Amino acid sequence: MSLNFSFLSRLALVYACFFAILCNAKYDPSDPDVSREIGVRFGPGSSGAFLAQNGMVTSSSFEATMAGLDVLRKGGNAFDAAVVVQFVLTVTEPYASGIGGGLFAVAYDSKEEEVFTLDGRETAPDAAEPDLFVGINGKVDKFSSRIDGGRAAGVPGTLAALAYLLDEYGTISMAEAVEPAARIAETGFIITEPFARNLAAHWRRLSKFPETQKLFSRPGGGPLQAGDICRNPELAATLRLIGREGVSVFYKGPIAQDIVATVNESKENPGAMSMADLADYKPIRREPVVSNYRGYTICGMDMPSSGGASLALMLNMLESQGAAFNGEWTAEQLHTLIDVQNLAFADRNAFMADSDFVSVPTDVLISKSYAQKRIGELKPNQGLSTPVSAGNPYKGVATTNATREESPYTTHFTIVDKNRNILSITSTLEQHFGCGLLVENRGFLLNNEMTDFNAHAKDSDGELTPNAPQGGKRPRSSMSPTIVLRDGKPVLALGSPGGSRIIGVTLNVLLNVFDRELELQEAINAPRVVARNRDPEIESPLYRDQALKESLEGMGYQLIDSQAVGSVQAIRINDSGWLEGAADPRREGLALGY
Ligand code: GLY
Repeated sequence: MSLNFSFLSRLALVYACFFAILCNAKYDPSDPDVSREIGVRFGPGSSGAFLAQNGMVTSSSFEATMAGLDVLRKGGNAFDAAVVVQFVLTVTEPYASGIGGGLFAVAYDSKEEEVFTLDGRETAPDAAEPDLFVGINGKVDKFSSRIDGGRAAGVPGTLAALAYLLDEYGTISMAEAVEPAARIAETGFIITEPFARNLAAHWRRLSKFPETQKLFSRPGGGPLQAGDICRNPELAATLRLIGREGVSVFYKGPIAQDIVATVNESKENPGAMSMADLADYKPIRREPVVSNYRGYTICGMDMPSSGGASLALMLNMLESQGAAFNGEWTAEQLHTLIDVQNLAFADRNAFMADSDFVSVPTDVLISKSYAQKRIGELKPNQGLSTPVSAGNPYKGVATTNATREESPYTTHFTIVDKNRNILSITSTLEQHFGCGLLVENRGFLLNNEMTDFNAHAKDSDGELTPNAPQGGKRPRSSMSPTIVLRDGKPVLALGSPGGSRIIGVTLNVLLNVFDRELELQEAINAPRVVARNRDPEIESPLYRDQALKESLEGMGYQLIDSQAVGSVQAIRINDSGWLEGAADPRREGLALGY
């Protein structure tokens, strides 16, 4: 069963390179506009963005990228490919996203020349109350007790969102869309090193969920290792059932019954999800949050994700400072970068939540005038001491710095097709392996997205915070799928996993592209500085710069040495109209085009 992983990864690379060269017959290295190295990325250490003319897929899974590319090469569009990629991710990266979770999509429809977003966020069951995470002792359960079992699961939104994309924009049937994933689930796929590491890290936690452990166990016991084959025939059957009968089988039929039973009969923290909760689930099409930064138009996700509005606020504050961030980072620039994130995070924590349930002053928060006022709080040569207070976008809003430890999990994929339709999708189960529960007989994991609500639902004045749990409400997210336009045309699409660090990660990469004018791959590889209204996290290569570190510490910052923050998957449409795909070396990733 066990195969040598380094051999397999080399094999995968050779296969990918071969495939890449075959597919890139039109690549002309003598063309000065496309003189960049052609290459593929798969895992840490590889280098070079991937160049292609027609279509491009970048995701965190080899099989998902290959399946998405296959759809594009056969004439499918980016919407078809996105649905196929998400189904394959459900199989090959089952701990990060899947049909038991939720997603946000930012899309460019090239026919209508418009950006729209789709909110496929998990939703609190109708029975959820603000005291969702209050234990029998009357106290809020500690984080490690909140994340497991049916109580943490929200009504899944991913499948409904995929169905919307396929119905409204796709060219293939649901049966065709599930088939690549079903085949992989049936025949098996190779466990990669990151998969094995994640599994080992969660193994003890998963011992509370024997069905889940069984799926990911070696025949002799213990977690699957890198090089092992994982098969999931129950998931193959589930996907084919959805393909045959449509998504109603998931939201109203036998799969819905199994979801409800799994959630409510969970030995660990049973939940209270009903058939009506599933039947009522709807993905919501929303306008993007739009902001402008030095001639670029940035389109992001609106509430219930705080991603788009927080990014807009950060970029507006930076723009109002005047100077662009070019060259190597200086201590002064990092000071600004850190505190801009801290200020925006204070506002995010205080005001941002599901705007269908609470009033969110988004228009004010993303306005240039508010940013101008807010950046006035920056102190020259001195870091703000955290937590900083929220601003005052309007009177009468309860302010709180309530925040929580959000996980580095989730996944992102980006797709561009030959007609330049674009999908930028961030998809999640929240924690790795979600709430730990595998839906009975169905082979997929359920999310624990309810933990993205404020478990401490009330502020110090006893008022409910905007992100308090409530039946039918969607928990605040940080997911920041983004599409950037220049002169009305899309030029860049990107996103990242990383919990509430996602926003800062995306900001770093955007600044590297916009201001520092780095090549896309360099912009992704460059060390990141992320602040969330607490001590800033500095990735190691920058942290090890003694002079920089001492200058920042002299300003009062307590720096955290961070190994790897986020995992960006991005595609850029360059001035020649070529596609540059880049995956993040911090985790697994593969960009391929044709
Ligand atoms: N669960 C991660 C997020 O939504 O931000």
